[in-house]
Amino acid sequence: MRLDGKTALITGAARGIGRAFAERYVREGARVAIADLDIARARATATEIGPMAFAVEMDVSRQDSIDAAVATTVEVLGRIDILVNNAAIFSAAPIVEISREDFGRVFDINVAGTLFTMKAVAKHMISRGGGGKIINMASQAGRRGEALVAVYCASKAAIISLTQSAGLNLINHGINVNAIAPGVVDGEHWDGVDAFFAKYEHKAPGQKKREVGEAVPYGRMGTPEDLTGMAVFLASHDADYVVAQTYNVDGGNWMN
Ligand SMILES: NC(=O)c1ccc[n+]([C@@H]2O[C@H](COP(=O)([O-])OP(=O)(O)OC[C@H]3O[C@@H](n4cnc5c(N)ncnc54)[C@H](O)[C@@H]3O)[C@@H](O)[C@H]2O)c1
Repeated sequence: MRLDGKTALITGAARGIGRAFAERYVREGARVAIADLDIARARATATEIGPMAFAVEMDVSRQDSIDAAVATTVEVLGRIDILVNNAAIFSAAPIVEISREDFGRVFDINVAGTLFTMKAVAKHMISRGGGGKIINMASQAGRRGEALVAVYCASKAAIISLTQSAGLNLINHGINVNAIAPGVVDGEHWDGVDAFFAKYEHKAPGQKKREVGEAVPYGRMGTPEDLTGMAVFLASHDADYVVAQTYNVDGGNWMN
């Protein structure tokens, strides 16, 4: 077990990729805080995972909620060794339809949420000593803009940049900050993306999903489980010398 005795806080872990990370971390021996805005679903997920998981309510767009969730996690688990900044929302619109409200909402959750959760947990890691691992969820959307997805793409480009700056700063305290850039991962998130493209590109429901899956060099969309190997690696001692990087785990969609 590669994370034996470790503790992890995973934001947005009630479902999807965050949930898969939580399940895998527990299988690797870690105790995990399932932090989510949707506390009912987080509780159900934690119950299904078992006694190594517990649910904590967290809205990453609110500082008081970040501080409370980090404090509760430290109280319950004793310390935080691993943070995964996974909570995010998707948004899409043609440039001429983007609203300031939507831009603010996406940047509050995806960008400020990641930055200020990173800050809160890094302060804890620095004060207790011994370093730690922070993993941010970027996206292939952060590698290149997309015609209808300006705000979400910009938010994920910001995650790549924040990972670089925080990685360079926090390695001075033995804290490794790195990111994962998934491609297209099936689940409820992509059901929403598919519905958006159905509207704007006049596609039948499910058609966009099929098209993006067929376009992946590996031959299909990813599953949350496809990403768990990288999430374990970056949380483990094997990644001690890995600093400020963003890894594509996308079936070959992107190269850089
Ligand atoms: N699914 C994909 O194709 C894909 C591709 C690239 C990157 N990603 C990234 O991976 C991560 C996980 O994606 P997913 O597909 O599992 O998404 P998802 O939408 O299925 O899950 C996101 C979770 O975050 C929670 N959440 C939303 N707002 C929150 C807030 N303010 N505070 C706390 N929790 C909040 C939701 O309740 C949900 O449980 C995201 O950062 C996403 O941008 C996903």
